[in-house]
Amino acid sequence: CNCNGMSRQCVFDWNLLRETGNGYRCVGCRGNTEGVHCERCREGFFRRRGEECCLPCHCHPWGSLSAQCDSDGRCSCKPGVMGRRCDQCQPGFEPLTEAGCQRSGQSLQCECDPAGSTGDCHSGRCVCKASADGERCHRCKRNFYNLDARNPMGCSPCFCYGHSATCVSADNHSVYNITSTFQQGAEGWRGVYESGSPAQLQWSPRHRDVFIAARTSEPIYFMAPGKFLGNQQLSYGQTLSFDYRLDRGGLQPSPHDVVLEGGGLRVTAPFLPQGKVLPCGVSHTYTFRLDEHPSNKWSPRLNHFEFRRLLGNLTALWIRATFGEYSTGYIDNVTLVSAQPVPGVPAPWVEHCECPAAYGGQFCERCAHGYRRDSPGQGLFSICVPCSCQGGGICDPDTGECYSGDENVGNIVSCPVGFYRDPQQPQSCRACPCGPGQGCSAGPGGQVICDHCPPGAA
Ligand SMILES: *[C@@H]1O[C@H](CO)[C@@H](O)[C@H](O)[C@H]1NC(C)=O
Ligand SMILES: *[C@@H]1O[C@H](CO)[C@@H](O)[C@H](O)[C@H]1NC(C)=O
Ligand SMILES: *[C@@H]1O[C@H](CO)[C@@H](O)[C@H](O)[C@H]1NC(C)=O
Ligand SMILES: *[C@@H]1O[C@H](CO)[C@@H](O)[C@H](O)[C@H]1NC(C)=O
Repeated sequence: CNCNGMSRQCVFDWNLLRETGNGYRCVGCRGNTEGVHCERCREGFFRRRGEECCLPCHCHPWGSLSAQCDSDGRCSCKPGVMGRRCDQCQPGFEPLTEAGCQRSGQSLQCECDPAGSTGDCHSGRCVCKASADGERCHRCKRNFYNLDARNPMGCSPCFCYGHSATCVSADNHSVYNITSTFQQGAEGWRGVYESGSPAQLQWSPRHRDVFIAARTSEPIYFMAPGKFLGNQQLSYGQTLSFDYRLDRGGLQPSPHDVVLEGGGLRVTAPFLPQGKVLPCGVSHTYTFRLDEHPSNKWSPRLNHFEFRRLLGNLTALWIRATFGEYSTGYIDNVTLVSAQPVPGVPAPWVEHCECPAAYGGQFCERCAHGYRRDSPGQGLFSICVPCSCQGGGICDPDTGECYSGDENVGNIVSCPVGFYRDPQQPQSCRACPCGPGQGCSAGPGGQVICDHCPPGAA
């Protein structure tokens, strides 16, 4: 049969005889061979020099031009692909697809910014969180700022007291935590019944925490001291956390374990999601994010503006201490993440607003010179309207009262600090062209001199 040792069987074939002069065709070739005399390797196999059997090429179906390799077992690769079996991308190329490998950046696979993307990729396009934008979800949509991985929306809406929709992250605020660690005492924390009447709170010098013990079933709360209250706008989107322990087991959280009040609004949240029970006798860190996103479990649900208003004048922060008769609750390490206007670890959640002409300040929280509050009762939320003073003078931003010099006496001191009396227009005061907080006066020739310099300035 002459089958090169790869078969012992052959059949006679007239056509073959006519074509080649030998009519015996081998059948059942072994060792991955084929051919009339089992003389060659099957497609996708190769023979090492000196060996009889053929070995599989294993060419990668996506990365290779064909299933066939050369006599060394090397496959021929598509563009951007490398490796003996064409199963890897060349450096700078990715990923391996049926078309080979693409130069990085033009790839079909998504390279999304984890802070702004949901993690999904649909046919090469990153799927962005609701407030993020860009092909890689790497920036905030218009009127949003502070791309943050911990924010389920991606970015926060600009606030600016409603006076502007354009802002960026401020660059002059740094992280600052308002904390109570109870190292020296109760730090101003107090106990309060749900009804509002005071309850006893104790400090443990040994454990350096505070606790409240209940004798009745009426819930008692830990009531935060002043440093956690007031304008906490700089904590928007950040967290309130504390370590809490209850000496009893099996108790269910209530919908109002944490209570925030302010700006005429009130929100509450449970310690744990519904259906879970509070751990017995072990301390656990509870964390609450301060924004309106539904995942934060604040109820009732506020909109962005309402949540900002609440934080802008926080009047109460209560944390539940007791759950039922003879239960005792312990609290420690209360932390409200905030920011302060000093150099340090940047706090990009603080906004820097671009204000329209009627407003000033980093958050458009001031009326510009020459403007006053339209409805002073609304505080910083009130719109600013032009002063109505004779001669275009400036007015008190809150009362609208015009600052005017006394015509008879003509003395300069009747203008407030930071303003001067213009000799050309004696009825009105004008802003000093000096640094903030500095005063000035107009000389006889009309020239203005900054003359009330703060200490150290000249
Ligand atoms: C502030 O508190 C947060 C949360 O407890 C913590 O992760 C962070 O390290 C603290 N930062 C500073 C500057 O103390
Ligand atoms: C904050 O709220 C309190 C109580 O409602 C109110 O008396 C106070 O004027 C408010 N402060 C500001 C700055 O709005
Ligand atoms: C409070 O924080 C301190 C320092 O991180 C830690 O040693 C202590 O155990 C914490 N307290 C509780 C009750 O977890
Ligand atoms: C922070 O910077 C902005 C603009 O750069 C400025 O308006 C604001 O007054 C600054 N705030 C502080 C506290 O320095």
